Amino acid sequence: MKTLTQLPLGLSPNALRVLEKRYLKRDRCGAIIETPEGMFRRVADAVAIAERLYNAKADTGAVADEFYRIIAGLEFLPNSPTLLNAGTQAGQLASCFVLPVPDSIEESFDAVKYTALIHKSGGGIGFNVSHIRPKGSPVGEHLDAAGGPVALIHVIAGAADYIRQGGVRRGCNSVVMDVTHPDILDFIKAKNNPQALTNFYNSVSVSDDFMARVRLGADYYLVDPSTRQEVRRLNARMVFDRIVDQAWRTGDPGLVFSDRINCDNPTPALGRIETVTGCGEQAMLPYESCTLGSINLARMLKNENGELAVDYDKLDRLVPVAVRFLDNVIDINKFPVPAIETATKSTRKIGLGVMGFADMLIQLGIPYNSTRAITLAEEIMEFISSRAHGASHELARERGVFPAYAGSVHESRGVAMRNASCITIAPTGTLSIIAGVSSGIEPIFAAVFVRNILDGENLLEINPYFEKLARERGFFNRELIEQLVASNHLHARKEIPEDVRKVFVTAHRVSPQWHVRIQAAFQRHTDNAVSKTVNFPHDATQEDIAGVFMMAYEQGLKGITVYRDESRESQPLCTSDTG
Ligand code: CDP
Repeated sequence: MKTLTQLPLGLSPNALRVLEKRYLKRDRCGAIIETPEGMFRRVADAVAIAERLYNAKADTGAVADEFYRIIAGLEFLPNSPTLLNAGTQAGQLASCFVLPVPDSIEESFDAVKYTALIHKSGGGIGFNVSHIRPKGSPVGEHLDAAGGPVALIHVIAGAADYIRQGGVRRGCNSVVMDVTHPDILDFIKAKNNPQALTNFYNSVSVSDDFMARVRLGADYYLVDPSTRQEVRRLNARMVFDRIVDQAWRTGDPGLVFSDRINCDNPTPALGRIETVTGCGEQAMLPYESCTLGSINLARMLKNENGELAVDYDKLDRLVPVAVRFLDNVIDINKFPVPAIETATKSTRKIGLGVMGFADMLIQLGIPYNSTRAITLAEEIMEFISSRAHGASHELARERGVFPAYAGSVHESRGVAMRNASCITIAPTGTLSIIAGVSSGIEPIFAAVFVRNILDGENLLEINPYFEKLARERGFFNRELIEQLVASNHLHARKEIPEDVRKVFVTAHRVSPQWHVRIQAAFQRHTDNAVSKTVNFPHDATQEDIAGVFMMAYEQGLKGITVYRDESRESQPLCTSDTG
């Protein structure tokens, strides 16, 4: 096993392995022909070219240098498809897509074909299957012939399984079904078999009315989408309990709060938003796509009179460059389907977010599960959000408002905007490995662990802040590290000072309520949605999960996904024991 040391550009050996294995360009024989610096340069140069669309004399070299500086400095990273494809022939740069699934063979199989094309280019997709007529409905002259939405999800999954994203990974999909669909009970248990739909996250879309009925224990109606007829009455509490029970068993389905999402729909004139994408972070209209980019909060600190503090001046300079970068991406993107290009260029949604929040907290000595963390989350996200919206407003003056601005909420507020929405918090599954920080807004998984994502290759990772503190305070030794790898019980090791144990709190030791509070703090300043998993210990009960679903709704989240430890077979990271 190798240990973590820093390499040029601040890349860890693990980051370098991920880049070598999946991102750096290769020749026809498979030999790597690009350095990480070369990759970052390729991306910065390609994205800067868009400046010429607005100003024929633009100094694209200077803009490219600015983009390169923030990317190579690991201060901001664009989503994986941009790193992979910018400046290449493939050229598809967005991570998130939404495809409509209408109730006709022709159109629903268009969705299957588009799925293949999007996955091939590295994107993930959100679907809503609520418009598909229920299983067993009449088709043409034939009674009892419709396969129904759950069968269609399996067809889409077949296409998705067939394609590996540009040979690098399997795409993530999110499927939403409205709780009023007649096949809802089948949908809730669609992932009961652990081998089924492994790259699909299922969520049930629930309205405020449904949640009120759950509280009252009242009934509600299932409605056939093809006839608009009420076909059956179910008890809302019973359905909610089935969702909870299945989520307790397998982590799926999650919930999507449809009224909350549509409260923040920036373009209501274009229709209601019905689904969220791949990992839940982006709520969009049919055919929209979005490129994400994440600010590395671990690098947004400064030393102020011997104390670390958030470097708001640095953030203030960084955010407009990141917004400009993401707006440029829309212009140079090679979209997989013309309808996606039209919808995306009409609203120009971008998804600027953060990663490394836990690393920032650790450096500041703030436990993740504390009110100070909530205050910091709100303060930082409010700053980033207001600066990003300001930057989009400035871009609108320079380049014009997004084409669907008329009828948008921005028009009614009288604020010119280049992008219908600006902020999204992505999972940053791979980006966080490249930047060497905790993913998105998640707490750390462990202070010391073995990462096993690279096809059997194991790499010991010691959290660098933990190692630094442990050395400074004299409790770093080989035996402790080996014991922490064997069991993730840092909280129980009495030789580690209590303040250190509190600051290095791991995901499994953060109570579900604190997970939700942190997610809600970020959501309050995120105009799109927030990707987050709420971890439960293995011995959590169905009541615990029901309580957190209700809390998520009351705290104003747009959706929620839970994970009870060991309820699924594979976990991407492992210590021998996650208790
Ligand atoms: O870190 P990276 O840019 O690779 O991706 P992420 O932030 O973990 O995920 C962002 C989005 O990329 C997800 O919501 C999916 O839409 C898509 N994605 C995917 O399709 N397949 C994956 N294996 C990972 C991400």
